Amino acid sequence: MKNLPPVIAIDGPTASGKGTVASLVAEKLGFHYLDSGALYRLVALASQNASVDPQNGPELGILAKKLAISFKNGQILLNSEDVTEAIRKENIGLRASVIALHPEVREALMSVQHSFRVAPGLVADGRDMASVIFPEAVLKVFLTATAEARAERRYKQLIAKGISAKLENLLHDLQERDARDSSRGAAPLLVADGAKVLETSELSIDQAVKTVLDWYQSKAA
Ligand code: CDP
Repeated sequence: MKNLPPVIAIDGPTASGKGTVASLVAEKLGFHYLDSGALYRLVALASQNASVDPQNGPELGILAKKLAISFKNGQILLNSEDVTEAIRKENIGLRASVIALHPEVREALMSVQHSFRVAPGLVADGRDMASVIFPEAVLKVFLTATAEARAERRYKQLIAKGISAKLENLLHDLQERDARDSSRGAAPLLVADGAKVLETSELSIDQAVKTVLDWYQSKAA
């Protein structure tokens, strides 16, 4: 373990800004970046395309193991098809939180997540980065914000992309997803042992990134 590249694990609920913060921290440090949620979204999309029942854990596990996934220059490819935009749809996010309940799916995605740990280091974002996938991470951050602040951020993101949305629907979906992610038996969303909580409702992205970098520097020192 000692010689493996360092990992910064950033977990948190939906729309907490962890993806933005994690990718900027990775960029500043010259580290690799793992968006583990994208993997669950890929399984959600592939299972929808293949009409696999989202309740059928064993079949979803087999599908997840067979997926040909690649991340290239900001693009996400599934069996050579560019699905970067398709996996970001709200219905795919909701389906992802359903298929993520199955231990078979989580198990199937384990080795691909570990394969991102490459020198000089990795910033990994998700729900169980600190608790299950990289429990020996040098820094563990639980990034959160109030449900209202998160719904508003998601709303602005969608509107900026020209996708119409309703704030109250987003808030409802987000609370539903929080409840499912936190209450599941397999790798629930939680503040891992030794994790530092970063409440970002009142913070800018730059302030959140700076806080994580400062915490990392003090751990690394
Ligand atoms: O964009 P958002 O933060 O809502 O979600 P995401 O990070 O793209 O993840 C989509 C869904 O995948 C989440 O609601 C979780 O249920 C699931 N997920 C998970 O179970 N474990 C992870 N490490 C990452 C995501």
